Amino acid sequence: MIAAREDAQFAGKPGEPPREIAHVATQERPPPRKMRDFPGAPVEHSRVRWLAKTADDTEAFGARLAASRPGATTFATVHLFGDLGAGKTTLARGFLRACGVSGPVRSPTYTLVELYETPTVSIVHLDLYRLLDPSELEALGLREWAVPGYIWLIEWPERGQGRLPFPDLSVTMAGGINGHEINVSATSALGETWLSLVENTAGAP
Ligand SMILES: Nc1ncnc2c1ncn2[C@@H]1O[C@H](COP(=O)(O)OP(=O)(O)OP(=O)(O)O)[C@@H](O)[C@H]1O
Ligand SMILES: [Mg+2]
Repeated sequence: MIAAREDAQFAGKPGEPPREIAHVATQERPPPRKMRDFPGAPVEHSRVRWLAKTADDTEAFGARLAASRPGATTFATVHLFGDLGAGKTTLARGFLRACGVSGPVRSPTYTLVELYETPTVSIVHLDLYRLLDPSELEALGLREWAVPGYIWLIEWPERGQGRLPFPDLSVTMAGGINGHEINVSATSALGETWLSLVENTAGAP
């Protein structure tokens, strides 16, 4: 049971196991170019793959990520990759709902950013699809939210390359004939712990 885990940095909220989850072989790859102003460099440690057969499944996986999220003493970032319609906002909605956000959760396609504050965590949801240049990020004043207690969920992070914090988790989504595939890679030590908690709650083989 994940609830008994000892790492106080992570909030424990176990749920029911999702249906199909598989731990894929550990992969190492060279870290990408260092991004401006943000410390550290991502190293991919391990991956979890999940097949979401319905939009509800995608939301459920978002909720599972949220259930194992880092606690209030930590700043964390999730990059959400995938083509238009891959399910990024759906996953983010599940994440936000599981954090206690009850109002509407819309894609911040035009506003670029939406802030959700709950008693336990603040979530910054970004959709950078319409960003013309990464330098435009500076005008959004995001830096004040790059602090403990905040989790950033970033759709289209490639559009903000060089101006974003390194991801702890990188999620890559793709729709297919059997459902939407969700691949989650841990790209920091924090992400590694986070992902292992997701795996454990999922009852992976
Ligand atoms: N596993 C799934 N199976 C079937 N439909 C899904 C699944 N996951 C999400 N969807 C549906 O796919 C559609 C697009 O999802 P969503 O808006 O989350 O995509 P997105 O990746 O955020 O797209 P964009 O890049 O335009 O922001 C929605 O109608 C959503 O309900
Ligand atoms: Mg979206």
